[in-house]
Amino acid sequence: MGLIKRLGLFGGVGFIGLLALVFGGLYIGSSNALGETYQLETYAIEIPEGDDDALERGKYLVNHVMSCNHSDCHRADFGGGAVIDAQPIGRVYAPNLTTGEGSVTKDYKPEDWVRILRHGIKRDNTRALIMPSEDYHSFPDEDLAAVVAYIKSQPPVNRANEGHSLGPIGMLLTISEPVFAYDKIDHKAERPKAERGPTKEWGKVMIGACTGCHGATLSGGKIPGGDPSWPASRNITPDPETGIGKWSYDDFKKALTTGVRPDGTTLLEMMPWKAYAGMDEDDIKALWEYLQTVPAKPAGNR
Ligand code: HEC
Repeated sequence: MGLIKRLGLFGGVGFIGLLALVFGGLYIGSSNALGETYQLETYAIEIPEGDDDALERGKYLVNHVMSCNHSDCHRADFGGGAVIDAQPIGRVYAPNLTTGEGSVTKDYKPEDWVRILRHGIKRDNTRALIMPSEDYHSFPDEDLAAVVAYIKSQPPVNRANEGHSLGPIGMLLTISEPVFAYDKIDHKAERPKAERGPTKEWGKVMIGACTGCHGATLSGGKIPGGDPSWPASRNITPDPETGIGKWSYDDFKKALTTGVRPDGTTLLEMMPWKAYAGMDEDDIKALWEYLQTVPAKPAGNR
């Protein structure tokens, strides 16, 4: 064998060895990240099962504020499905929330619901991936309880939990990006207290539902851990150039509920405007009032 060929062979073997090393490292790092457990004291809330008013409230929040059954998440029937299923990210799976076979929540106690919804921790004490618990953190206990009561009232769906199966990029993201809500939530922070109404105080509670995608500062940007096909979220701070500083309330309401921006273009459905189409006017006003108070930031400073 000539020297050049031999060097080439060595190089090839070396490259494959390096790949194996990188992949092995990723695999171990990602398995550790996914398997790491967190002991979190939590508390029980009373789930108002069978209470018509609470079920109505839960139905509203699920469908028009929290979008738990968004088409790409737990699905319209709450039976779960893949949120992302594309190599090299792999599969990220939103599980079955009904009482049917394959459910992960069938035996959940009220404190288990609090742990996942407020803190992003699953029953086995590991962190939930992608699940936007930071969106629900600001809502009062009664609202979370109403949401759980409504979900529990849904017909059982038998669908196996396929679970996550990450490819190399998915593994890398578990190490390099904030893909666990648990890491983003200030677990000790006092929740904003406000009565429902068209006020900035209630808006501060409602805005929780926007932070998972628009970021804690609301200035938008790439959604962490997302499929590369997911669009970046936009800047909804009052920045006049890259945000919504030049918008009127009517522009905001129109974009939020019909997806049509002031320049006439339509927002992609990743922004859940179809769900927000059913949002109460008071809640839309509350969001708007609160958004007037947040510091203007250039786009992309999540
Ligand atoms: C699941 C992710 C997601 C959630 C939750 C979400 N958004 Fe969005 N939003 C987006 C994306 C992505 C875009 C950009 C879509 C596009 O460019 O077509 C967007 C765009 C917008 C726009 C248009 C801004 C512009 O300059 O055109 C507004 C306004 C908006 N969102 C408000 C909100 C509010 C208020 C909430 C909370 C009630 C919210 N969004 C929740 C993903 C989300």
